Amino acid sequence: MSFENLAVVTRGGIHTITIKRPSKLNALNRQTLQELYGAIIDASGDDKVRVIVITGSGDKAFVAGADIAEIREQSPTEARSFSQFGQNLMSMIQSLDKPVIAAINGYALGGGMELALACHLRVASSKARLGLPEIKLGIMPGFGGTQRLVRLVGSTLALELALSGEPISAERAHELGLLNQVVEPAQLEEAVKAFAAPLVKAAPEAVRGILQATLQGADINLEAGLALETARFALCCATEDMQEGTAAFLEKRAPEFKGR
Ligand code: COA
Repeated sequence: MSFENLAVVTRGGIHTITIKRPSKLNALNRQTLQELYGAIIDASGDDKVRVIVITGSGDKAFVAGADIAEIREQSPTEARSFSQFGQNLMSMIQSLDKPVIAAINGYALGGGMELALACHLRVASSKARLGLPEIKLGIMPGFGGTQRLVRLVGSTLALELALSGEPISAERAHELGLLNQVVEPAQLEEAVKAFAAPLVKAAPEAVRGILQATLQGADINLEAGLALETARFALCCATEDMQEGTAAFLEKRAPEFKGR
């Protein structure tokens, strides 16, 4: 699939999707959302892709939100389908069985923050600012922001961010547990690689099991979550990779996982 508003490249198992609308600070219009949907489907079905990285073009923004000019022109019915499409995209990202890392190179506002929240890991430049400014436009988050933020940081902070509309610094977001790491802008690519590279070499069944048990488990009761964990643990133990990983430990060597 070819894209107008995205650049995609796979190197060493790491598939980087760069959102490319720099003149609009990478705002998500319908076309970009649809392209992102297609890019994620492509990457999820490609065996060469082991980790997905999502970032923004230019040095100013990750994504400055959904496209405000488009929102303004929508009928209420179109707004409903826009919100549902955005939510479906974010849910698809969150439920992928490959790790997705947000490389937050600048503003992550509104839909940009919601996109980052749907990713599994978030690494940010110290210049980044994160927020849900929709209230200032007379609207509210519509791509899952009210649901994912409260689950990550609780209602006190989720409501502070959504009701004030004020963005917070990367440092504060890190303190709140919203980010895995904050680095100087020039170090962002290396920092993301440091998270991604071990995952490229990891046993895929273990990666899939950890993602599913952790994320689905968080939304179901403990008993059901524990049953899910047991099922995924047993699946890992049915793989050649489990034999290899445990043998490598006992033989004091590095494992070589084959994805079988
Ligand atoms: N939708 C559409 N266009 C957007 C946009 C968005 N979410 N965010 C930025 N842009 C456009 C601006 O309209 C401007 O376009 P123009 O040059 O054609 O006028 C361009 O991107 C640059 O933005 P600008 O506001 O001039 O940059 P800035 O450095 O002064 O401010 C921000 C940066 C991020 C603080 C500011 O752009 C902003 O507040 N954006 C909207 C954030 C938001 O409310 N997001 C939620 C949307 S639901």
